Amino acid sequence: MKINIKELVGKMTLEEKASLCSGENFWETKSIERLGIQSIMMTDGPHGLRKQAANADHMGLNESVPATCFPTAASLATSWDRELMYKLGQTLGEECQAEDVAIILGPGINIKRSPLCGRNFEYFSEDPVLSGELGAAHVNGVQSLGIGTSVKHFAANNQEHDRMTISAEIDERTLREIYLTAFEILIKKAKPWTVMCAYNKINGTYCSENKKLLTDILREEWGFDGFVVSDWGAVDIRTNSLKAGLDLEMPGANGYTDKQIVEAIKNGELDEEILDRAVQNIVTILLKAKEGKKKNVTYDKVEHHRLAREIARDCIVLLKSEGNILPLNKDSLKHIAVIGEFAKNPRYQGGGSSHVNATKVENAYNEILKIVGVDSKISYAKGYDLKNDVIDRSLIGIAKEVAKKSEVAILFVGLPDSFESEGYDRKHMDMPQSHVKLIEEVLEVQRNVIVVLSNGSIVNMTSWNKEVKGILEAGLSGQAGGGAIADVLFGIANPSAKLPETIPLKLSDTPAYLNFPGEKGKVSYKEGIFVGYRYYDKKQMDVLYPFGHGLSYTTFEYRDLSLSSSKIKDSDILEVKVKVKNTGKIFGKEIIQLYVRDIYSTVIRPEKELKAFDKVELQAGEEKEVTFELGKRAFAYYDEVFKAWIVEGGEFEILIGKSSREICLKEVLYVESTKVPRSKFNRYTKLKEWMSDATGCALVQPILAKFNEATGMLDSGDESTKVMMEAMFADMPICKLINFSQGMFSEDMLNQVIDAVNNVEQ
Ligand code: BGC
Repeated sequence: MKINIKELVGKMTLEEKASLCSGENFWETKSIERLGIQSIMMTDGPHGLRKQAANADHMGLNESVPATCFPTAASLATSWDRELMYKLGQTLGEECQAEDVAIILGPGINIKRSPLCGRNFEYFSEDPVLSGELGAAHVNGVQSLGIGTSVKHFAANNQEHDRMTISAEIDERTLREIYLTAFEILIKKAKPWTVMCAYNKINGTYCSENKKLLTDILREEWGFDGFVVSDWGAVDIRTNSLKAGLDLEMPGANGYTDKQIVEAIKNGELDEEILDRAVQNIVTILLKAKEGKKKNVTYDKVEHHRLAREIARDCIVLLKSEGNILPLNKDSLKHIAVIGEFAKNPRYQGGGSSHVNATKVENAYNEILKIVGVDSKISYAKGYDLKNDVIDRSLIGIAKEVAKKSEVAILFVGLPDSFESEGYDRKHMDMPQSHVKLIEEVLEVQRNVIVVLSNGSIVNMTSWNKEVKGILEAGLSGQAGGGAIADVLFGIANPSAKLPETIPLKLSDTPAYLNFPGEKGKVSYKEGIFVGYRYYDKKQMDVLYPFGHGLSYTTFEYRDLSLSSSKIKDSDILEVKVKVKNTGKIFGKEIIQLYVRDIYSTVIRPEKELKAFDKVELQAGEEKEVTFELGKRAFAYYDEVFKAWIVEGGEFEILIGKSSREICLKEVLYVESTKVPRSKFNRYTKLKEWMSDATGCALVQPILAKFNEATGMLDSGDESTKVMMEAMFADMPICKLINFSQGMFSEDMLNQVIDAVNNVEQ
């Protein structure tokens, strides 16, 4: 029987209603037994469960129950694979069922504004479409099992420095096009049960008190119908947050803020309807959780570990393989050096609230031994000590010896835990000096060097990138990452991942370099919409590895790009088809990227923007046709004046690429703009604006002709004078004609044309 939520909430006392708006403790909501409302548990997330059985904290300090640790979001995003994300979500959902967790907190879909953000390992990409699409698949996977998610951190939480107080100063267009789009995609495609509001402020208002964000945009524009939960401790003034649309406060404040709510209603400061609305939102989800609850669920830890390895294989980017050094041939190689402590003591996840107590951890060294099968073929050297970043001459010396007597050296380096975490940002993009020195010195004795990176955020590679022959960007690849790396190194798995963010040449090249992490409580997003590749492309800068780059052990060719029409209205759906063929000798997967470029625009726009992507599996020699559908948003920009998404009519390019800098095919089409809102004309409307409007032009042209008769100003002098006059007049507000027309154009005439143009129906 369907429960009427309004009626149910109507049966509650004021105190009971207020009580539901904050947690019972760190992880659970309150219950009202007499009305059958049960408490539920929420826990982190997002790449594995962090259910704390005893002592609770939100920084990953105390122990949690064992759970499968999958690659973190930064690595998962390299897969560009919606199916993989869905599968991951289902697996997480299963572990939630087994642990009686109703909502898993995550995914985090904040945009990577700067490589320095300490939590970049928990976020997907610098691009909103990629982040939103992958996040949606993750949520759909979890929720398909009747378990909820909490999409976080809404919004503009792009740094850890001053994370609880900083105000992100962002213009509306940038907010919409870059920082909100991923959330918008996810909310519309996956309907998450909950959204977690961020700690920070946007333009001076705490996200937790931001009505425009939590109600106007989230609920009214995008149709969100779950509850909004605070990030842990994000509430400042409880009644303000309730008014703005924050339903549940976590963790609970021992009933203190519940009392504030009750008092505010009693003394008329808060409308009871606002409380009712929040309680309805919360109860709707509590009942949904009750419905989805399964008893006696267990999961197969071994199977989940196997899945973690399978997923991790698709999340390792082959950045470079000079002379096809990769994959390694275990039979023909006689001696392989495995160097670097990460090979035995892997870094596979990040620090803070997402820290998972893994059921088992594989290391690459053991997995390589298993694959190669002959122990004597492998020599190991530690190379550096993970505890301190000091250059240890003796460890480097041993590593060089080992490398020298081998045919190839695999170097495991990257970022140790202390170099990046939730809670603080990095100050630089460098790896420990002991890791860099190790690479440089091994290169002195061994030409065949393969670097395997374990890191949650991108690192500076410029000093050694050219010299090494192979690079695998393994990110933080979860508890089975060691096995997955071994699989890719020896060709058991063919790499198919691509970069979800640009690797720049140096930190000072990055778009937010001059404005990160802000000062005096504010951080200005002065680079605007030019984040990631949007910035490097527009500035025509060289980068080390572009957004979307990633190699495979096979090759792919693209052909026959076709559009369903070469002219569409912005209300139409454009169908784009392209054929992709595996032209190599082995099975592989390819990520096809579709970018859109506005050829001419009156507002500044990126050179190109990712609007669609797909991943296909292809046997050797096989060809498939991929179809994309593009709607209005693929061509639109957000206009701050009209507060709307606008398509400027004209030509656009559809670009198909293997990466953002390797475009293989392009086609042009004309998009007709159907509904462009029109500004009111006034005395300061420039002549060029009058001339580009049909009615305006019809009204002003005769006036200009008479003006010219009277003054001769418009066609006197030589060609260059004419050009100058034309330019000056184009930018002139219409009222200035009165100053120059020697009485021909009057204030009355001006008012008449303004009335006439504004009265025309559009
Ligand atoms: C983090 C959230 C996390 C919460 C609960 C906060 O500090 O920002 O991402 O879900 O704690 O642990």
